[in-house]
Amino acid sequence: MSSFEPLVFSGVQPTGNLTLGNYLGAIRKFVALQDNYDCIYCVVDLHALTVNPSPAELINGTRSIAAAYLASGIDPVKHIVFNQSRVYQHAELAWIFNCVARMGWLSRMTQFKEKAGKDRENASVGLFAYPNLMAADILVYRATHVPVGDDQKQHLELARDIAQKFNNDYSERIGELGIGIPVEVGDETVNGYLPITEPLIEGPATRIMSLRDGTKKMSKSDPSDLSRINLTDTSDDIAKKIRKAKTDPEALPSDSGGFEGRPEAENLVNIYAALTGTSMDAVLKDFGGQQFSAFKPALADLAVEKLSPIADEMRRLLADPGHIDAVLADGGERASVLAEKTMVDIRRIVGLSA
Ligand code: AMP
Ligand code: TRP
Repeated sequence: MSSFEPLVFSGVQPTGNLTLGNYLGAIRKFVALQDNYDCIYCVVDLHALTVNPSPAELINGTRSIAAAYLASGIDPVKHIVFNQSRVYQHAELAWIFNCVARMGWLSRMTQFKEKAGKDRENASVGLFAYPNLMAADILVYRATHVPVGDDQKQHLELARDIAQKFNNDYSERIGELGIGIPVEVGDETVNGYLPITEPLIEGPATRIMSLRDGTKKMSKSDPSDLSRINLTDTSDDIAKKIRKAKTDPEALPSDSGGFEGRPEAENLVNIYAALTGTSMDAVLKDFGGQQFSAFKPALADLAVEKLSPIADEMRRLLADPGHIDAVLADGGERASVLAEKTMVDIRRIVGLSA
């Protein structure tokens, strides 16, 4: 092998309802990548523990994300769908990475700073070490490509830093064992065992904003349900939320250069473009000069048309949790085989086995 085998990995946390942001920024990309890559899609239940859900919330949330994956069109037979905790090697590698990553690296993570807020002393150690587990999720399969929304960029950079430091620190041993691939680090070439993962963030929907505030990300955890469209919202809910979405009194501009200082207007047009798979300029060819009173109903119809089949299929799947659990168990077994193969090498590389 002269380079790492292409492999896609991504994960979504089973906390709260999935939003239109998760769908457009992540899950829809997961679906598209299936044609060209082997893919592993994970429900990251260990990550969810960092926000202390109740056991019932965690169980239901895990099934619900799995159902969203399947309902959106992810094929769990050709690819792998499972929940993280079934494959203990994620946690094992995360511990090794706890000993590779530096306090300073993690202290710079903006998501930790936001989630921990002012009371940092009282934040859990898990919340702080969260990105190390995320790096382990990816690297325990030596995945090369990771589709995510824009908010995960910094975490993926950390995963690259961890892989690089690991390769550097253990280059000699990796060479002795004959299991490395030459990778460039600056002007030097070292024996790399872990790939330097490529983030896949491009596309129109990397950052869908709140319907109530165009400067804030649409989020599962926003206290206002009106700020987001949930994948499981009814058609009436979707129409109501779009009707109530914050806008401004101006008509829509004639091209995407005209959104200066109008983040809410830009977000709604971006959502329309992402749902139809066109550009904002193409949308504005049809709607430029029109009022929101004309645009919002069109957007609501479009959102309902695209999302309601997924919501219906999720409801159908969730009525049979035994089936979802069986899909996750099967995916977990197949993932375990791959993860264990990597860990046999990594235990030897670091000296946990001879
Ligand atoms: P999370 O809900 O934090 O587990 O996120 C799951 C995936 O959805 C990640 O790849 C996020 O980057 C992506 N995502 C979450 N919110 C948004 C958003 N508002 N716009 C685009 N992508 C998002
Ligand atoms: N941290 C990611 C999020 O909140 C979820 C996640 C966990 C993930 N492990 C991952 C995403 C590995 C991509 C790859 O969205």
